[in-house]
Amino acid sequence: MPEPRPSPDALARAVSLADLAALAERAIERTAWDYYRSGAWDETTLAANESAWKRFEIHFRGMVDVSARTAGTTLLGRAVAAPLVAAPTAMQKMAHPDGECATARACSAARLPMCLSSLSTTALEEVRAATDGPLWMQVYISQDRGFTRELVARAERAGIDAFAVTADTPAWGIRERDMRNGFRVPDGLHIVNLERPGGPTGHAGVGIGGALSWTIDASVTWKDVELLASWTSKPVLVKGLCRPDDVRAAFDSGARGVWISNHGGRQLDGAPATARVLAACAQAARGRGPVVVDGGIRRGTDILRALALGADAVAVGRPILWGLGAGGEAGVARALAMLAGEFELAMALAGVRSVEEIRSLGADLVRDAVP
Ligand code: FNR
Ligand code: LAC
Repeated sequence: MPEPRPSPDALARAVSLADLAALAERAIERTAWDYYRSGAWDETTLAANESAWKRFEIHFRGMVDVSARTAGTTLLGRAVAAPLVAAPTAMQKMAHPDGECATARACSAARLPMCLSSLSTTALEEVRAATDGPLWMQVYISQDRGFTRELVARAERAGIDAFAVTADTPAWGIRERDMRNGFRVPDGLHIVNLERPGGPTGHAGVGIGGALSWTIDASVTWKDVELLASWTSKPVLVKGLCRPDDVRAAFDSGARGVWISNHGGRQLDGAPATARVLAACAQAARGRGPVVVDGGIRRGTDILRALALGADAVAVGRPILWGLGAGGEAGVARALAMLAGEFELAMALAGVRSVEEIRSLGADLVRDAVP
């Protein structure tokens, strides 16, 4: 049985994301915790995502006046406090009863974008109504294209600012803990944006592949990205790319940005760590639109590394769930403050004053220790 939520004191004493993870692990149901933490199969990519950032050394500059530095930047035309986005993660009410609305409020208060999962346990309209901060929505293109088209229209009407269509999920990866635990959507929670009267739910089957096969489609191609981009006036990003040719294909298909990701190591085990493919992908995106990267970002120094390797912003998935599990909205706020605060300090220690400066210094500032 999970223990009671940590006290505000315990939250305040947490000094790192790892501390928040330890608090969340005690507060979240075991099957939900296992679902959140898991990667696919041998979890090689899951582990590599985190360790790969550390291979990049930061060749800091001395004696630079960093007293007036800023982490602020612009993303999809909107000013944000730092180049940091809450990645879409499904079923946030398993982490805390306030679920997706708590994440949205914490992101908005921190002036950072949240990307809502289409597999949320709160209706997109309710999450939109919780804040007026930048709110993006992730989309899985379903077997019923008409349904996805209506979902996108519905989200646009509600005031969603951008869409991220996921490219790495033609089928669900196997997370073996979920298979052993018999994971399915818990009773009382619903995939509310996608469920229809008389239609499938997430309450039958084992593992996400058993419970949620009806939410995705193995026949999705770039043609569908073209279609999706034609259905909305909002920017569409393609999420879950690791190859420069796919980055080019995304822009050629009408995407206005790309999101380098392997789904946090949950889809194809053996996929490269995002840190290893970022520079080449960013090169392919140059001049065409923003590059977001996620996977294993756990420190402000990782954010700095990602920007120097060509990203415009990073996203974090599990750290948001750790904050949510540890303390609802206050916990997510703490996770975001840790990352943004560490990033700002890393900038000072590296002798840089702005996101633009990090990006223009690039390989001069951040170098592969094992080229
Ligand atoms: C995810 N991710 C994800 N991606 C997506 O496009 N739609 C989704 O619904 C989900 N759901 C989801 C649930 C959980 C529990 C996790 C951990 C991840 C992937 C997510 O957006 C992101 O790519 C990774 O989480 C980034 O890696 P880190 O930060 O978790 O290491
Ligand atoms: C996952 C899905 C929901 O990774 O994206 O579990």
